[in-house]
Amino acid sequence: MGAEKSGTRGKPVPIARLEFIELKAETEINSGELRAPAGDFPGRCIDLRYLVVRAGREVAIVWYNTFPPDHYLVLYKLFVAAKFRRRGIGSALIQHAEALARARGYNRILVHAQPLSDDITEKQLIGWYEKRGFKCTDPERETYVKNISPAAPAQC
Ligand SMILES: CC(C)(COP(=O)(O)OP(=O)(O)OC[C@H]1O[C@@H](n2cnc3c(N)ncnc32)[C@H](O)[C@@H]1OP(=O)(O)O)[C@@H](O)C(=O)NCCC(=O)NCCS
Repeated sequence: MGAEKSGTRGKPVPIARLEFIELKAETEINSGELRAPAGDFPGRCIDLRYLVVRAGREVAIVWYNTFPPDHYLVLYKLFVAAKFRRRGIGSALIQHAEALARARGYNRILVHAQPLSDDITEKQLIGWYEKRGFKCTDPERETYVKNISPAAPAQC
């Protein structure tokens, strides 16, 4: 086990160590594993997709739907490449979602907690989101919502 893996267990990777590249085409992704969940391009105008790079390596994608801010910021897809899981990258992506929500004036993030790979069960994924502050609002659709405190007003 590498020092990086053991050193970050249970804690989010500092977001400053991740590069978020806004995606306009699937050809911007080299990893076949990440290209599949990134979906079809071009997307809808509400789609906002990022490739996440750490130390020059493609580690994840995160895909949002940006409805008007009086609705929700939808965390549509979160996918960490298999060999980079359990190192705090997924948790850092939740922090990215929160920062994006604050920057754009949302006060809620919504996700459907449905696993996109076999190595995490729905129950485990729900537990993962609940530990990160999401609460169930519709059990039939596995809808989970996190309330976001508004950004502090700028000092004059
Ligand atoms: C769910 C997912 C995003 C988590 O990302 P990650 O980078 O592994 O998450 P982190 O390292 O930040 O989280 C670590 C924590 O999650 C737990 N965890 C991670 N994967 C787990 C798994 N497969 N089963 C159970 N627990 C798991 C770890 O035990 C650790 O627990 P702790 O917070 O109590 O210490 C990642 O597994 C993934 O991309 N899965 C495939 C895609 C998917 O299903 N996405 C969800 C779409 S809604």
